[in-house]
Amino acid sequence: MTAPKILVCGDVLGRLKQLFKRVQSVNASNGPFDVLLCVGQFFPNSPDGLEELSDYLEGRAPIPIPTYFTGDYGVGSAKFLSATSQQHSDRGFKTDGLKVCDNLYWLRGSGVFHLKDLYIAYLSGRSQSQSLGFGLYSDDDIGALRMLAEDEQIVDIFLTYPLACFFAASASMVGGITNKADTSTAPQGVSDPACCDPAISELAAEIKPRYHFAGTKSIFYAREPYLNDKGMHVTRFVGLSAVGNKDKQKFLHAISPTPAKSMSPADLRAKPMGTTLSPYTISEGNVPISKETKRPGDSDVDAQFWRYDVPQKRQRQRGADGERLCFKFTSTGSCPKETDCIFRHDMDAREHYLRNVCFDFLNKGKCERGPDCKFSHKLSEEGDPVRAQRSEKSCWFCLSSPNVESHLIICVGESYYCALAKGPLVDDHVLLLPIEHCPYTLSLSSESDAELEGFKKALKIFFHKQGKAVIFYEFLFRRSPHANLQAVPIPLSKASNAQRAFGFAAKKLGFDYIVMKPDNDRGCRESLREQFDGKSNFFYVELPDGTTLSYAVEDEEKFPVQFGREVLAGLLNVADRADWRNCKLGKEEESRMAEGFRKGFGEFNPTQ
Ligand SMILES: *[C@@H]1O[C@H](CO)[C@@H](O)[C@H](O)[C@H]1NC(C)=O
Repeated sequence: MTAPKILVCGDVLGRLKQLFKRVQSVNASNGPFDVLLCVGQFFPNSPDGLEELSDYLEGRAPIPIPTYFTGDYGVGSAKFLSATSQQHSDRGFKTDGLKVCDNLYWLRGSGVFHLKDLYIAYLSGRSQSQSLGFGLYSDDDIGALRMLAEDEQIVDIFLTYPLACFFAASASMVGGITNKADTSTAPQGVSDPACCDPAISELAAEIKPRYHFAGTKSIFYAREPYLNDKGMHVTRFVGLSAVGNKDKQKFLHAISPTPAKSMSPADLRAKPMGTTLSPYTISEGNVPISKETKRPGDSDVDAQFWRYDVPQKRQRQRGADGERLCFKFTSTGSCPKETDCIFRHDMDAREHYLRNVCFDFLNKGKCERGPDCKFSHKLSEEGDPVRAQRSEKSCWFCLSSPNVESHLIICVGESYYCALAKGPLVDDHVLLLPIEHCPYTLSLSSESDAELEGFKKALKIFFHKQGKAVIFYEFLFRRSPHANLQAVPIPLSKASNAQRAFGFAAKKLGFDYIVMKPDNDRGCRESLREQFDGKSNFFYVELPDGTTLSYAVEDEEKFPVQFGREVLAGLLNVADRADWRNCKLGKEEESRMAEGFRKGFGEFNPTQ
């Protein structure tokens, strides 16, 4: 079998005439070529370019070679591509390109497909946080590609528009082994974090393609091959310039790769001269890619008080319950990134996965493969005894579970116990937890409310002696592993601002609370029970004066799982602590803090 011959092109910008002229001359000298793949913006920057493009797209000029493009934005994209989408609307899930006209195929969203025996993965468009308009990739697109990382089939070619972020610091990150730091070879602009997309870096590091092509800021950059951390093959990254760029940088690149599936393991493993370590390698203790790089467009407005404008990270991961599942953890039961993983490690999802439930279905609530999917699209029944038993065993919060963090426990009552929070927002951040495995405190009988109120009262008195008030909040969501009512002490001086902070946050997210004043010594729990239908997600917070704000979440997409914590981080001016993963302590320190708390709390402890 002869290897296919492929041409890859950078941003076309509608300049098809110039492109095909070049293709023809390269074809004549080195061809014939089988296909042309285009990365970067395909459509022109200004309406001036539209006429030339239309000639081709409307069939007045022939497209001489099968051509696939990903950069589905620019002038004219909406017009031509919405027509194409409509034409193909009944084609369902199709990843090998939608036909725009003869020989021209649009790679929409993300996907993988076989082309001339090569296995090709692509992510079309730009990141949502970078711009608005046509040609954006979504969370789902990224999620679908992440699935690939576990696929046994090696991806030959990966096409993206934005550049991956390379790490200049990679030499020092890989403990002693020196590799060529990327800045030594990367031209200016390639290593500039402002023009790269950390999501692409993550994907490239996980998918480990043999070739990765991207459009760039009019720079041609063929990086030395790099070794994938665990992969057996090397990756060659090539950034391509734009057609007709002023600097006459290379925009057309020819390759003739033997498809991985017909290569011997030894050939695949071959390390060409000059191979470096992976530019994406992150050793322990270093900040993961997504946390480090700020994208243009991030707003710092109100950042000291309010974080909703900042977290592009969350926007990328947001799933049904606010965060994407980690595929690695769900499929294997462990993930080397542990708590540094930006994806959710969910024991219940793992359980479902073991029962042959589809990962897409667990992660997104839907699976595009529909009836063709070989995995189940039904969760095992609630109350399935095996399931209940299993998840209790693996639960961090069940007192009977071997996974419970017993060193954090403060005291234990009849139905509730009290423990210090892991990754606390502030010192003495406490959790009130049901002893039995249950998803919400409101699902416990109202008899147990008396005990809960006892705990709350004791905490209020205890903290008041230290000049602090307490905010209690709980987020009830369907797949919550185990109910936890959070108790966060705040300085008395901030107490009167708490309602305003929660109000401000709600306004930003576009909702209103139900506001309740307590009418008896059980607080507002009866009213909360009435409001909570067990179906929609539900948030409530009890302020220092007993006022309770509640909200039945209407739009799950818009409501962050860590809402309460984020508001309080804003109120307390500790925005960086909004993510509990930034606040982790060692076990020894945790034990010391719990010990200290137990001593101080002793005389208030309602269980004694
Ligand atoms: C490439 O060359 C072959 C012959 O070598 C020819 O048949 C084909 O049409 C050429 N394609 C392009 C795009 O010029």
